Amino acid sequence: MMCEDFDRPLTHVVGVPDDGGDTITCLNSNGFLIPNFPNTRGIQGIRSAKMRDDDIILCTYPKSGTHWVLEIIRELLAGEIIEDDVMMDKTFLELGPEERYADLQSPRILNSHLLMKHLPEDVINKNVKVISVLRNPKDVAVSFYNFAKKVPYLEFKGEWKNILRPFFEGKFMYGSWMDYISDWEEVKKTNPDLPVLTLFYEDLKQDQMLEMRRMCEFLGVERTDAFLSRIRDNTTLTAMGTLKSKGDVNRAVFRKGGVGDWKNWFTVAQNEWFDQLYQEKMADCHLQFKYTL
Ligand code: A3P
Repeated sequence: MMCEDFDRPLTHVVGVPDDGGDTITCLNSNGFLIPNFPNTRGIQGIRSAKMRDDDIILCTYPKSGTHWVLEIIRELLAGEIIEDDVMMDKTFLELGPEERYADLQSPRILNSHLLMKHLPEDVINKNVKVISVLRNPKDVAVSFYNFAKKVPYLEFKGEWKNILRPFFEGKFMYGSWMDYISDWEEVKKTNPDLPVLTLFYEDLKQDQMLEMRRMCEFLGVERTDAFLSRIRDNTTLTAMGTLKSKGDVNRAVFRKGGVGDWKNWFTVAQNEWFDQLYQEKMADCHLQFKYTL
């Protein structure tokens, strides 16, 4: 397990075990677990980071299509097709510090997997536009497992059968999917003036053109269908996985990119366990997730 030597008084590296004793290396930052990103200082100071009125922040639970939607937003705003990498290293808030994204041109597109209580206070104070992308939790879990196995800094060597329970109980970074969804639903309810566009990964898979039109309206940009279809072609999994992804981490992101891969992973017992847990924890949730298309 690696521990950077810069000054992180409230931040320390922890190996969080799955049910078989294999660990995922996380960073405990002010009591909240984030991945043990190389060279991060954690989330210290993030609450006071300055936001701009025209910032846009993409908020997702990990493995919900962040890279895909970030790229779509980037091209929608730019009004042109972009061939280079998605550059999340500049936009990802919890990689901190603030200087990392302070020089980006307006309108900035930022992103985060954090809960509202960890995000800059300015997000609420300045009514920053939030794009929230949600994905069905079964595919999220499968994607998370495969990602954790591939990304060097998480140092995970465990097996699928041992990860599901601790994952959904929120033992690893960013806490549980259920808490994340419930927390954000509450934020939307208690901050009716906060401009939030909620998208579903499955809807994007089903009809990316339609979802991009919704994004244009929310972002206040007019783009032709011809241009939208060029974005669609430039943001397929294959296009992004070959043209745009550099480095181990990005390569680990572009895997299958579908809906329903969970059926190849969940055993009958795991599926029953999950469905029961979902009913208990998400009884009040009005969101409808699609598990197949
Ligand atoms: P799978 O592991 O199920 O394939 P994130 O960007 O939030 O880390 O999400 C990663 C998931 O989104 C991965 O899911 C990845 O394959 C999928 N993904 C990435 N780019 C995509 C694209 N252009 N189209 C569809 N899915 C994409």
